[in-house]
Amino acid sequence: MRAVWYERNGGSEVLTLGEMPTPEPGPGEVLVRLAASGVNPSDWKTRRGSTRPMAFPRVIPHSDGAGVIEAVGEGVARGRIGERVWIWNGQWKRPFGTAAEYIALPAAQAVPLPEGTSFEEGACLGIPALTALHAVATDGGVTGRRVLVTGGAGAVGHYAIQFARLLGAAQILATVSGEAKAAHAMAAGADATINYRREEVPARVMELTGGRGVDRVVEVDLAGNGPMLHRLCAYGAVVAGYGSNTQEAVFPFSPTIQKGIAVRFFIVYELDAAQRAAAIGALQAWLARGLVRHAVAARLPLAECARAHDEVEQGRHIGNVVLAC
Ligand SMILES: NC(=O)c1ccc[n+]([C@@H]2O[C@H](COP(=O)([O-])OP(=O)(O)OC[C@H]3O[C@@H](n4cnc5c(N)ncnc54)[C@H](OP(=O)(O)O)[C@@H]3O)[C@@H](O)[C@H]2O)c1
Repeated sequence: MRAVWYERNGGSEVLTLGEMPTPEPGPGEVLVRLAASGVNPSDWKTRRGSTRPMAFPRVIPHSDGAGVIEAVGEGVARGRIGERVWIWNGQWKRPFGTAAEYIALPAAQAVPLPEGTSFEEGACLGIPALTALHAVATDGGVTGRRVLVTGGAGAVGHYAIQFARLLGAAQILATVSGEAKAAHAMAAGADATINYRREEVPARVMELTGGRGVDRVVEVDLAGNGPMLHRLCAYGAVVAGYGSNTQEAVFPFSPTIQKGIAVRFFIVYELDAAQRAAAIGALQAWLARGLVRHAVAARLPLAECARAHDEVEQGRHIGNVVLAC
């Protein structure tokens, strides 16, 4: 099969396109003929070695993807052959991800792809959609609550706005950096956007919430925004911190403790079985009813994997970058 891999950490030049043996599905596994492979920030960070050291001699990147089950291993129902599926954790604690024509992986990591959802859209679900869903559902969820989604036009942020709306949030605010991103966040269901580069975010949040502050923050940049959280949160707010632009996050102790703020750190790769089942269950139901908007911003051939990594690293697109496998 054709695949893209790397054998050392580095810039996108370490990505190599070549031929590898097509994998065989082992017991409990399915073999998926991939149609699309989703590229996420985690993929270039892992390739650079900035989040975890190289754990295997050769890595095929990307955890997200979608395609059709072509064969099954022992113990998996043969009726799954021919099923359209989307994939989660394709390259988490496993060497070979989805930047290839085929992947063999545990059957549970290939989820039926609802009819109205394309392969490209299916390749955006494993990381962006499940992260967004867990961020809004964790620790009591957002129903009836005022929510701030920072980076509301990001791959995760765009889904988080939609899911907060679907879960019955009382008010959804989003921070963005410009007009196109504001329009994108509003189309997803935000009540209002705040340009965080030009406006005073805490003051605007207080104004928009009638002085009450928000009960929940879905936070894309804990280091960048941590110092101001106490100025925009209501007492007892929960901050779902899924991203940070730099390593060290600082919270001023007295004002933050006086607001009783809780920060929920989490990584989508490590959702436990119950959390993952809950997120996938809700997502599948919404997908089947056509309630989810996706944002596939760029489609590139597998051979242009290096360009795709650079584009995601530079944050050039509004939405997801997907490779055709
Ligand atoms: N914990 C997890 O499991 C998990 C899962 C998925 C992603 N992540 C992490 O979450 C981050 C976002 O991922 P993504 O795929 O959504 O990336 P993305 O599509 O590039 O979106 C990031 C968005 O955040 C905005 N942004 C950046 N800094 C901001 C700030 N200080 N305040 C407000 N908005 C800001 C960016 O736009 P502007 O630069 O124009 O503002 C962009 O719209 C990455 O760091 C990623 O590694 C973590």
